Amino acid sequence: KQTPAYKCWLNYDLIAKNDRLEEYKEICGDFNVLGDTLIYKSIKEELTVALHSMSHKEEVAESTFEDATLIISDSERVNLEDYGVEPSLFSSINEEGFLIKSFHNGERNTVLIIGKTDKGSLYGTYHFLRLLQGNESIEALHILNSPKNRVRMMNQWDNVDGSIERGYSGQSIFFENDQITSNLDRVKDYARLLASVGVNAISINNVNVWKVETHFITNRFINEIADIAGIFRAYGLKLFLSINFASPIELGDLQTADPLDKEVKNWWKEKAAEIYKVIPDFGGFVVKADSEHRPGPFSYDRNHADGANLLAEALESFGGIVVWRCFVYNCMQDWRDRKTDRAKAAYENFKPLDGKFHSNVILQVKNGPMDFQVREPVSPLFGALQQTNQVLEFQIAQEYLGQQKDLCFLVPMWKEVLDFDTYAKGEGSTVKKIVDGSLYDYQISGIAAVSNIGNDENWTGNTLAQANLYGYGRLIWDPDLTADEIAKEWVSLTFGNDDNVQEQVLSMLMDSWGIYENYTTPLGIGWMINPHHHYGPNVDGYEYSRWGTYHFADRDGLGVDRTIETGTGYTAQYFKENQEIYNSLSDCPDEFLLFFHHVPYTHVLKSGETVIQHYYNSHFKGVEQVKSLIEKWTSLEGKMEKQQFENVLNRLDMQLTNAKEWRDQVNTYFYRKSGIEDEKGRKIY
Ligand code: GCU
Repeated sequence: KQTPAYKCWLNYDLIAKNDRLEEYKEICGDFNVLGDTLIYKSIKEELTVALHSMSHKEEVAESTFEDATLIISDSERVNLEDYGVEPSLFSSINEEGFLIKSFHNGERNTVLIIGKTDKGSLYGTYHFLRLLQGNESIEALHILNSPKNRVRMMNQWDNVDGSIERGYSGQSIFFENDQITSNLDRVKDYARLLASVGVNAISINNVNVWKVETHFITNRFINEIADIAGIFRAYGLKLFLSINFASPIELGDLQTADPLDKEVKNWWKEKAAEIYKVIPDFGGFVVKADSEHRPGPFSYDRNHADGANLLAEALESFGGIVVWRCFVYNCMQDWRDRKTDRAKAAYENFKPLDGKFHSNVILQVKNGPMDFQVREPVSPLFGALQQTNQVLEFQIAQEYLGQQKDLCFLVPMWKEVLDFDTYAKGEGSTVKKIVDGSLYDYQISGIAAVSNIGNDENWTGNTLAQANLYGYGRLIWDPDLTADEIAKEWVSLTFGNDDNVQEQVLSMLMDSWGIYENYTTPLGIGWMINPHHHYGPNVDGYEYSRWGTYHFADRDGLGVDRTIETGTGYTAQYFKENQEIYNSLSDCPDEFLLFFHHVPYTHVLKSGETVIQHYYNSHFKGVEQVKSLIEKWTSLEGKMEKQQFENVLNRLDMQLTNAKEWRDQVNTYFYRKSGIEDEKGRKIY
């Protein structure tokens, strides 16, 4: 039996007997879907399931067009003028957009959901269902909506053995024991969840493409992968695969993978043709090359543009694209070497190649220059690539952010990234305008993210981590939604419309990123985490390692000097306005201070506290804040499914243990290094 958690926000709870119920019954009782594509079939199915589950009706079935009070169609199939809709309205929205409109013709109230294409109708349907679940009035609707970003992608880091790299919610829903999972029901539900928040592309395997996965693009797997592509197709998602750059060698066909070699070029062309034969709308390849020991063009003295263009040429005639990742840095650094700065690497590797990539290549850039830390400045590559399509990469999986044990709602962080002004073309050159393609007129661009789901019953380990999956989709559809609005939607879809539950869960979500930052690594320093698995504190865990992730704490101070005059010069990668702020000790915002500057413990922050006192204060505070999260949650007992309540409570207990460990290790470490007492005389070991 599917529990509500299993269905996530598509739970479609029975609508309470309230004022709205009659209104809903009148309109939703008779629906008609005009259209016969695969996507319309999905729409019919979704409506039937949803309306049945939400209404108090025994049976829900489609009615005729003539009788229908809820009509779903695309703009081509109905006579818009009959419903008072100016057809020109549709020229202001893109292919995936929709109109939801109430229409009254004397005795009957009707709602129309009109997509510009069938995909628009699908998104419109989910939008409408969301209104019902949120108990909104549907009497006078006029909603014209379309996504701001063209590419809205999910990256799975799933391995064919069923494990998930950086997965914290069980095993893969796609793979098990070196095979494609035999029961794909869950994949279909995932497709529904993703479509319901507007995600339109998915790569299903880890960017680190190991031995068996290299064979995904061969006969051994491709037909079954085509089945998965079919499931996603019905919900408007294109399927991508991560590939191994050395495939021509690894699959035993050639001696080289040199991107300029003629045979290699032909090999990829033939490979693309084989794939498109079985998956005609295949999205393309995601590529991690010359990064963390993955093969790439460097082995042949070629650059990233050579590598990406090789694949782009192979995919071009089929309409496929290459998503080439920019997570490239020296992962064999000597900690003694103070000149090399990992933060500089992506820009140094890719900026010189701007304009050299084919038009069907997108460079995928992580939001920050390091690796998904609790607070990083925005990668200086945003805005720097003026002639190269770009996709921003977020990580929904909380690799460094508590691994879905600790609560960390990420939408507020993502919003800061999207709203960041790069000044690339003067004031107002925000990241969201870069990735939506408007600033530089990119042909393809958008946002991708590393997924946080697995086969756990509730998908995301911690039930509250579902909010990150939901929020990601909603935010990249429309980056102008606020974090608060998104969180509210998710809470009401998940827990219903009880005011107290909404208020408590909302405040838990909205405070959680700051809380996690408080008890881990405030002021922008990052890391100090257990190496490899990345959960829990280990202040010097990475200090003498090869990864380029150091805090440089000594008895006098800490932080990384990335200034132009005395440091690594990283700040020079930003446009002037940001460069000046970050480079200046007095102007640099507190939250990034230690990312850009090495300062004495006694340095006074803008807040008036010294750095060391801020460290003590925020770590003590963070633990108290976790306790108050537990109090808030405990007050909700009985107001939701027992299983949901206990799942979160159990995680919060783990979070408290973790927070205490961070507090005590970090405070003790810096107390011992600095010898400076806590002004408030609290317990430091
Ligand atoms: C992080 C993560 C790796 C991952 C890598 C990537 O470093 O820890 O597991 O492979 O990012 O984004 O490629």
